Amino acid sequence: MNRIYINTKEQKSTINRNIYGHFAEHLGRCIYNGIFVGDDSTIPNEKGMRKDVVEALRNIKIPVLRWPGGCFADEYHWKDGIGEKASRKKMVNTHWGGVVEDNSFGTHEFMELCRQLHCEPYINGNVGSGTVQEMSEWVEYLTFDGVSPMAELREKNGKKDAWRVKYWGVGNENWGCGGNMRPEFYADVYRQFATYIRNYGENKIYKIACGAPDFNYDWTDKVMQIAAKHMDALTLHYYTFVAEGDFWEKKLSATDFDEPTYYKTLHKAMKMDEIITKHAEIMSKYDPTHRVGIIVDEWGTWFAVEPGTNPGFLYQQNTMRDAMVAGLTLNIFNQHSNRVEMANLAQTVNVLQAVILTEGDKMVLTPTYHVFDLFKHHHDAKLVHSYTETTQIGGDFVVPNVQASASVDENGVLTATLVNPSVSAPAPVELLLTGIEGKNATGRILTGAMQDYNDFDKTDNVKILPFNGITLSQAKAELTLPPCSVVEVRVST
Ligand code: AHR
Repeated sequence: MNRIYINTKEQKSTINRNIYGHFAEHLGRCIYNGIFVGDDSTIPNEKGMRKDVVEALRNIKIPVLRWPGGCFADEYHWKDGIGEKASRKKMVNTHWGGVVEDNSFGTHEFMELCRQLHCEPYINGNVGSGTVQEMSEWVEYLTFDGVSPMAELREKNGKKDAWRVKYWGVGNENWGCGGNMRPEFYADVYRQFATYIRNYGENKIYKIACGAPDFNYDWTDKVMQIAAKHMDALTLHYYTFVAEGDFWEKKLSATDFDEPTYYKTLHKAMKMDEIITKHAEIMSKYDPTHRVGIIVDEWGTWFAVEPGTNPGFLYQQNTMRDAMVAGLTLNIFNQHSNRVEMANLAQTVNVLQAVILTEGDKMVLTPTYHVFDLFKHHHDAKLVHSYTETTQIGGDFVVPNVQASASVDENGVLTATLVNPSVSAPAPVELLLTGIEGKNATGRILTGAMQDYNDFDKTDNVKILPFNGITLSQAKAELTLPPCSVVEVRVST
């Protein structure tokens, strides 16, 4: 028997809704075709944004969207993407497939997208190939209301009032595609750029420094030592990939995999817990009061591209294995919500572990999308103490048989999200409740075989269903999680 002890009186951190954030880069068909089709498209759109995609993202209450990259961010010159569309510069997207970037989606379009999505913008500025002046002027263009060259330019381009922008990234992966810098060098460059990111009027920028990839603790140590006091948050990137011989170039299929590979994927996804813990420990050395937040602004699965697609477009299908990775990872983020202030799945549409796939005017919601739906009651709720007594499964690649997190919202409703990663065995579970006298329990479930996925000709193969198998007494809820499932349980008084 698996037991989850939940004490709603032991309230911990607030689960920042931005943990459920997304990331959209100028990469493959994420922005172009996936989100933005232009206002002369036959695909239903509002000001060029696909209506179906916007509506789907609003349904999962997308809280924040990071843009324009990724590696693209450090090649992007924002002034190329404003003004009359016909006269915008065209450039080569050297990093992603060498395709022409016509800059028809730029600053105004991104801010319009965020308006339609009702989400916060998170803009990632260019450090690798940009200048301090360029970044500083972008902030001024977006947020300054008054008399200045950039405010004038914005008005000339049709926007009189400034926007509000809070989240600002100073470079992306500057240890790699963002300039191949050493941590000491980046930390100094960060301090220089950050100095000229101004707060205009009421607009207060939350400055985000480029953090480490996965296990690179040295980067975190040095950047924190040199620049901690100039930043509000430090990022972290971690991708779950499986590959032949663990060679990055030999990544395995997104849909065609065996059981050991399935468990290996989930085992690797579970490393997120250790990675956050260790980076957080190092950060505490330089920031004992935990003023600086952790932002995991790129995470998710990275498999081989779908056969016949452009390798530079990173288009992959999304199965129940991805749903398991999402469920396990989001529970880990909830449990670390005292330090993790935001996370952004890579990437929103048609790229990597996308929540949405499109083909022409068709749209598919992936299993990962449904996991974000199942977790949406955690947004801004209070994490409560939970302890899971379970066994390990997966052979050489261990994962817990049951994994969970729990929160209480402002109405006192308890939400627990439970994952059973087993390919074949159901998992009986008792939720032992302290602090709440449960009168009513409801559930929703996502389940399927490990390789199940949705496609354009079978969009509902994997979908959320009501889960009626919960037996509730005041202090206990009993249920059995089917194999390969994510279940949301809500208990109200
Ligand atoms: O998400 C794809 C790429 O992965 C991003 O552009 C980059 O930051 C990371 O390496």
